[in-house]
Amino acid sequence: MKKILVTGGLGFIGSHTVVELQNEGFEVVIIDDLSNSSKTVLDGIFDITNKQPIFEKLDLKEKSSVEKFFKKHNSISGVIHFAASKAVGESVENPLLYYENNLNTLIYMLKGVLGLQESNFIFSSSCTVYGQADVMPITENAPVKPAESPYGNTKQIGEEIIADTCKVNQNLNAIALRYFNPIGAHPSGKIGELPIGIPRNLVPYITQTGVGLRDCLSVFGNDYPTPDGTCIRDYIHVVDLAKAHVIALQRLLDDKNDSNFETFNIGTGVGSSVIEVINAFENVSNQSLNYRFAPRREGDIISAYANITKANKILGWKAKSSLDDAIRSAWKWEQKIRNL
Ligand code: UFG
Repeated sequence: MKKILVTGGLGFIGSHTVVELQNEGFEVVIIDDLSNSSKTVLDGIFDITNKQPIFEKLDLKEKSSVEKFFKKHNSISGVIHFAASKAVGESVENPLLYYENNLNTLIYMLKGVLGLQESNFIFSSSCTVYGQADVMPITENAPVKPAESPYGNTKQIGEEIIADTCKVNQNLNAIALRYFNPIGAHPSGKIGELPIGIPRNLVPYITQTGVGLRDCLSVFGNDYPTPDGTCIRDYIHVVDLAKAHVIALQRLLDDKNDSNFETFNIGTGVGSSVIEVINAFENVSNQSLNYRFAPRREGDIISAYANITKANKILGWKAKSSLDDAIRSAWKWEQKIRNL
């Protein structure tokens, strides 16, 4: 049984990926510093898979702890690296925190991976690297635009660090997955997103408004050049996204990759406006949502949705869930954590 390290494995995307890895028969070791997650997620993972992953609470910024970890776990065959800070606004206020949290840790991880027998590495990247792309849907060949935030910059620089390292280490095999907008929760209702404080992202804000935790959703801007005036994004079910990681990892384990650093867009290929997401929520929850139009949010791009041909052709992966499926699972999760 191959042993896979998942950093940030108790976070939103990490925990769903751990479930998919265990379902595929991998042995999983999780590193998480619990800064934006909870140990109770381990119970949810166990409830779904009936398997307990190995868990180590570890701060990846501590270089010596990372070195010790890799000495202890030298039989790891692949690493999926989620652990990172992800709040765009916070990154603008505290750039050094973001460069330290997202880049120092990446460097220590890569050093660790290079010392393993099998150096396979999957990196959490983001469609944010494209900024406002000129052509929709966005292919992997679209130019990487100057980052809008230190957070976005850490994803761009992260990809460059990996590309440069791969160039001089042919035994290192890496894939960067550029996620569009992950939403939803496990259909079992056992794991999901746990945003701390007031959510910044659309879907948790909608579901929290739905349960009465927030009064009203502000729709940021209704005068964009889109059919209904609201921004368009590509919302992907977190379970589809998790599965993409397992498939990408398998490609590296099977030595099937064409070059030792590849990038893939991971989205559904379908763009949905904020109003369409609200309609989907109203449809699956059978209740109307209290919302109002508000001024545009600074830094928002008009539209971003993926061309997923590359992931489909090369990885044989395609998102299976619809927007309604994803919203339904998010709604089920929200009701569960509020004990409704
Ligand atoms: N929105 C609202 N009201 C809200 C929250 C969001 O109208 O209360 C709108 C936004 O203006 C945007 C859409 O909903 O049009 C989606 O917003 P999210 O915050 O959910 O997602 P973003 O596309 O802004 O952010 C995502 C990822 C980030 C990443 C960013 C890059 O969540 O991690 O894409 O563009 F950095």
